[in-house]
Amino acid sequence: GVPLRDLAAERGIRIGAAANPYLLEREPDYRALLAEQYGSMTAENVMKWDSLQPERGVYDFSTADVLTAFADEHDQQMRGHTVLWHNQNPEWLDQGEFGPEELRSIMRDHIDTVVGEHFAGRVYAWDVINEPFRDGSGELRPNLWLNTLGRGYIAEALHMAHEADPDARLYINDFNIEGRNPKSDALYDLAESLLEEGAPLHGIGFQGHFHAGGVPEDMAENMRRFTDLGLEVTVTELDVSIKMPASAEELRTQARDYRAVVENCLEVGGCTGVTVWGIGDADSWIPSWFPGRGAALPFDEDYAPKPAYGSLQEAL
Ligand code: XIL
Repeated sequence: GVPLRDLAAERGIRIGAAANPYLLEREPDYRALLAEQYGSMTAENVMKWDSLQPERGVYDFSTADVLTAFADEHDQQMRGHTVLWHNQNPEWLDQGEFGPEELRSIMRDHIDTVVGEHFAGRVYAWDVINEPFRDGSGELRPNLWLNTLGRGYIAEALHMAHEADPDARLYINDFNIEGRNPKSDALYDLAESLLEEGAPLHGIGFQGHFHAGGVPEDMAENMRRFTDLGLEVTVTELDVSIKMPASAEELRTQARDYRAVVENCLEVGGCTGVTVWGIGDADSWIPSWFPGRGAALPFDEDYAPKPAYGSLQEAL
C-alpha cells in the first residue's frame, strides 16, 4: 500500500516513530520500515540527559547523531525528547544536591548546548518538560527541578529553550492526559497560566500509552480545549498494549484504537500528527516495563504488518 508518511502528508499531518540507533544499525527491516513509513522521528532514549551529558560538562552526541543523520537522509522531521524529566538523568545530576543558582546554571548550559548549539535547525520541536504531573492527580510531580527551583522551573526552562532556538516548537508532554481528568485539567490550568505570563509554550504532547480498548471517548474534545488556547497538539508516544498472549479479537480492538487516535488527531485542527513508540513489537518498551503485556505496535516481532497497520492506512 501507500506508505503512512505519504498518506499523512496528504492529510496535512505527520506520522512518526520513536527510534533507536542500535536497532537502526543492526536491523535492515527496521531501517527500511522507518525510512519508508514514517515522516517524523523521535529519539526513544538517546536525547535524554544520561545519554547527552553523562558527566558534568561532557557532552556526547554520537548516538543521537546516528538518528539525525538518518532523518536528514530520509527527509524526516525530528522531535527532540526530552529536556527536563525525572527519569534517565545521569547520576552526577540526580545525586548532585545542587542549590538553586547552580542548578539553574546547569539547566542553562544543557539547554544552550543541546537545544541551541547542537540541534538548532535539526530538531523542529522539543518536549521541554516531560511528565510534570503526578499520575492520577493534579499535583506537580516532585523532581529535582521542582524540589530545588519551585514551580517556576517550567517557565524558566521554556524561556531558556526559546532563547537557545527561537524556531523550535516547545512542548509539555505527559501521559494519562488524553481524556478529561484531574491530571489533564491541571495541565490545562498550567498551560493557560503559562500563556498568560507570556511563556513560550507552543504545544502539548499527549503520549498515548494505551491499553487495548482504552482510548478515551473524549480525546478529541479534550485536545480541542488546548488548541482553543492557541496551542498545537501532538500524539507523541502512541502504543496500545495487550495482555499476552494476544488473541485475534484483541488485535482487532487494538486496530480500532489506532484508527481512533488518528481520527481524533485529524478531527482537531491544530493536531500536528501522531508518533508511535517504536517500530515492531520486539523493540517495544512495554514487555520489559509492564510484564505480561505486549504486542503494542503496528508491526509484529518479524516486522510484518498487523491489523493496526491496516487501520492506520484506512484512517489516513
Ligand atoms: C521509555 C523507553 O521507551 C525505554 O526504552 C526506556 O527504558 C524508558 O523510557 N514516557 C516517556 C518516554 O516520555 O521517554 C519513555 O520511554 C516511555 C514513557
